[in-house]
Amino acid sequence: MTSIEQKTPDTTHNVAPFITKRWSARAFADQAISEETMATLFEATSWSASSMNEQPWKFLYAYKGSEAFDRMAACLMDGNRVWAQNAPVMVLSLARKTFDRNGATNRHAMHDLGAANTTLLLQAAELDIYGHMMGGFFMDKAVEAFEVDTEAWEIGCFIALGYLDDAETLEEPFKSRELAPRTRKSISEFTQKL
Ligand SMILES: Cc1cc2nc3c(=O)[nH]c(=O)nc-3n(C[C@H](O)[C@H](O)[C@H](O)COP(=O)(O)O)c2cc1C
Repeated sequence: MTSIEQKTPDTTHNVAPFITKRWSARAFADQAISEETMATLFEATSWSASSMNEQPWKFLYAYKGSEAFDRMAACLMDGNRVWAQNAPVMVLSLARKTFDRNGATNRHAMHDLGAANTTLLLQAAELDIYGHMMGGFFMDKAVEAFEVDTEAWEIGCFIALGYLDDAETLEEPFKSRELAPRTRKSISEFTQKL
């Protein structure tokens, strides 16, 4: 069975295919993502909803082979760097902590960045590009490496992006993880009809 077959869940209800298609891959093919495609992903991202339409997100991105890509990879914890360094594109997502218009604290900034990241990944999956968000990175390294003004910005996560390769290309334990079926809580565990 391919990783796509393993990872696409059988749902009880009629969930839209564009939602079930996205999953967090680790095996990335040696295939570049064009600038035009990256622009498509970011334009899709821009259509995400945000509090007061603030769009409090920022995305730094780098192509494999560049100095900036290596700087991003160096911020990742070992268990992520091993496979993520083979992705053709690495993204660092950040949230602006305050509203542009009046400087007041935007308590929805990280919420809105999460929504934007998901929008990016859903658009990516439509184009057969898989993304993997990573919170496993060294915050102090990332702040220093990208000169992040932490008064103004909060780092969300890194995202590895690429076209899929065969799970067989991965070492263990990542190969098994790549082939493990995805699981979810049942809807009764996180919903309550009042
Ligand atoms: C904010 C965030 C941080 C994550 N950090 C990591 C990480 O450091 N390493 C990793 O392998 N996966 C990471 N993941 C991926 C999750 O493990 C994954 O989304 C979850 O297991 C559900 O699997 P799916 O995305 O394939 O549906 C992260 C996901 C999110 C949203």
